[in-house]
Amino acid sequence: MQRNPISRRAEAIHPSAVAEMLAMGRKMEAEGIKVYRLVQGEPDFDVPENIREAAKRALDEGYTHYTPNQGMPILREAVADKLERVNRIKAKPESEIIITNGGTLGLYLAVMATVDPGDEVIVLAPYFGPYANMVSLAGGILVEIPMVKSGSHYSPDLDRLSEAVSPRTKVIMINTPSNPSGSVMTRAELLAIGEMACRHDLYIIADEVYERMVFDGHEHVSIASLSEEIKERTITVNSFSKTYAMTGMRLGYNVANPSITKAMSKIYQVSARCAAASTQIAGIEALRGPQTEVERMISRYAERRLMAYKRLSRIKGLHCCMPEGTFYYWLDMTSFGMNSWEIAKYILSEAHVLVTPGSYFGGAGDGFVRLSFATSEENLLAGIDALGDALSRLQPTSGRS
Ligand SMILES: Cc1ncc(COP(=O)(O)O)c(C=O)c1O
Repeated sequence: MQRNPISRRAEAIHPSAVAEMLAMGRKMEAEGIKVYRLVQGEPDFDVPENIREAAKRALDEGYTHYTPNQGMPILREAVADKLERVNRIKAKPESEIIITNGGTLGLYLAVMATVDPGDEVIVLAPYFGPYANMVSLAGGILVEIPMVKSGSHYSPDLDRLSEAVSPRTKVIMINTPSNPSGSVMTRAELLAIGEMACRHDLYIIADEVYERMVFDGHEHVSIASLSEEIKERTITVNSFSKTYAMTGMRLGYNVANPSITKAMSKIYQVSARCAAASTQIAGIEALRGPQTEVERMISRYAERRLMAYKRLSRIKGLHCCMPEGTFYYWLDMTSFGMNSWEIAKYILSEAHVLVTPGSYFGGAGDGFVRLSFATSEENLLAGIDALGDALSRLQPTSGRS
């Protein structure tokens, strides 16, 4: 029998809403029910063949050992080239780049390296759910500032952001393109945030894992590219998961000034130690090899985004706006008068469709759900039709349609 309680920090971690919804869906599937999974932020495509082959070759060639904690120098060089070419960020491979085993760990290292107990961390809501748990693990205090919506775009509320800064504020976390809202921050918005961070001496954690998924001419801008002063205080977090459909291979990278990189490296050393050697070799192929498969995947997401929009916009009571980036729809269902768990469970039981309850993305998400279009066209359209049927049996309680 266990006598001692587990740690308070572990107790404080909220379970993942995606995992909870998936568990409910699996139960239904075990009963023989067809469930439409529109819940996970996971590309349904396979890892491109050239990348898989590189990983296999690497195993055969003996890349099965520890690598330097910060990652293989040749991969760090490939990342530095890509950062300069694509993100307009100049980073020294030997001291400003750390290879992680995915964006999740990258975010965790960034938070752990900057946040002390009692420090406040500003997030723009709706935000990627795990940020809250990471800040809590570091003993920090999450300060949620809702974004303001105009048309299809969610913008940071700059006045509220400035008011929210206190002597205890240490970090602002941003995510562009945004999971779940799908908004892509403009250069002007990023510059305003960057200047605010400089004024108040804040760190910026910039989560850019959806950088390639931008549509209709929207441009992804890396905040660290905007000025030397902004770059100095920014930790850019990126990953191979979404762009190269490499979710299960676990690879990412963080970019920051040498002292933050060193701090992250120390925490990495005592947690995950290093990314798998064979995956790092595959990462070089991903960055330096042909990008045709990436382009093909992105054009499929773009097609699905339009297909889904046509059907979603016909559903009465649901308010949806066209995402500027990512592979998510952020659906406003407040007109049905239910909280987001109630509506997600209703959708599952009546439509057999799995979506993510909006409250997982902060208080501003209540009454919303997130729908992922990283799934086959067939699954997506059948799921949306079933969702529409189920919602048509509900009575919207407010004026939106
Ligand atoms: C906004 C955001 N950041 C980071 C991640 C981390 O992804 P990974 O750990 O697979 O790189 C995800 C994954 O869903 C995400 O949506």
